[in-house]
Amino acid sequence: MAHIIVVGNEKGGAGKSTVSMHVATALVRMGHRVGTLDLDMRQKTMGRYCQNRTAFLDSKGIDLPTPRYIELPEVAPEQLAPGENVNDRRLTEALAILEPQSDFILIDCPGSHTRLSQVAHSMADTLITPLNDSFIDFDLLARIDGATDRILGPSVYSEMVWGARQLRAQTGRPPIDWIVLRNRLGVQQMINKQKMESALDRLSKRIGFRIAPGFSERVIFRELFPRGLTLLDLRDIGVRALNISNVAARQELRDLLVTINLPGVTVKF
Ligand SMILES: Nc1ncnc2c1ncn2[C@@H]1O[C@H](COP(=O)(O)OP(=O)(O)OP(=O)(O)O)[C@@H](O)[C@H]1O
Ligand SMILES: [Mg+2]
Repeated sequence: MAHIIVVGNEKGGAGKSTVSMHVATALVRMGHRVGTLDLDMRQKTMGRYCQNRTAFLDSKGIDLPTPRYIELPEVAPEQLAPGENVNDRRLTEALAILEPQSDFILIDCPGSHTRLSQVAHSMADTLITPLNDSFIDFDLLARIDGATDRILGPSVYSEMVWGARQLRAQTGRPPIDWIVLRNRLGVQQMINKQKMESALDRLSKRIGFRIAPGFSERVIFRELFPRGLTLLDLRDIGVRALNISNVAARQELRDLLVTINLPGVTVKF
């Protein structure tokens, strides 16, 4: 059985697609077979990322390890069982296509609540949630008392994950390993940073997730997408000397993969 990694957060722009592409590509580079799906039917950022990669590599005449991306197959209404949801079926069929040839299947979710994203969460062996380092993003995980910083209770996204965990428990599958990582960490705003760290730490124990070292805010992430590249590809496209920021970013990716601790994966890059 392929190990399913879901990258989700109902907050837009938290870094889901960037993390998805980096984790998927890192795994392929380390010799694993990776299939990917994009449940953001409108933006299809992950799909675009993969298409950009193929186009860029073709134009340069180079071949680099690339995850396999497929679109959700179309399903005609007459193929559906009575009451069956068309998108659920499309997801099941996509997984059936990828499963035989994948060690890992990575599913990138949209930045809003959809039924399909919820279904995918209940299928996750590993769930990765990138979070901008801001209490606006934290608010989707839990409500916090502004005066005392006390956590008042879980909010929409955490409740959705809780529901997914319940559903999964009923099917007898092992629990979801949920990892939250802080993205776009800045060098300034020390007070906000410490408050976030403390709040996340307390919340992780309360609702059951692990915290991974995150990514700093770096221009390079925005430059990679049009060429479909990741931090790990720079040397192979002829960037001889990586600058300090790129080396540090690679290290952050490495630390993330070590923390995620996927089965059968020894992180080597
Ligand atoms: N650590 C970072 N430093 C700088 N820019 C970043 C970083 N992480 C992501 N970005 C940029 O932020 C934007 C949003 O990232 P991304 O598309 O990965 O988020 P998302 O969660 O998938 O968004 P959506 O909810 O719309 O699907 C992109 O332009 C991306 O290049
Ligand atoms: Mg996205």
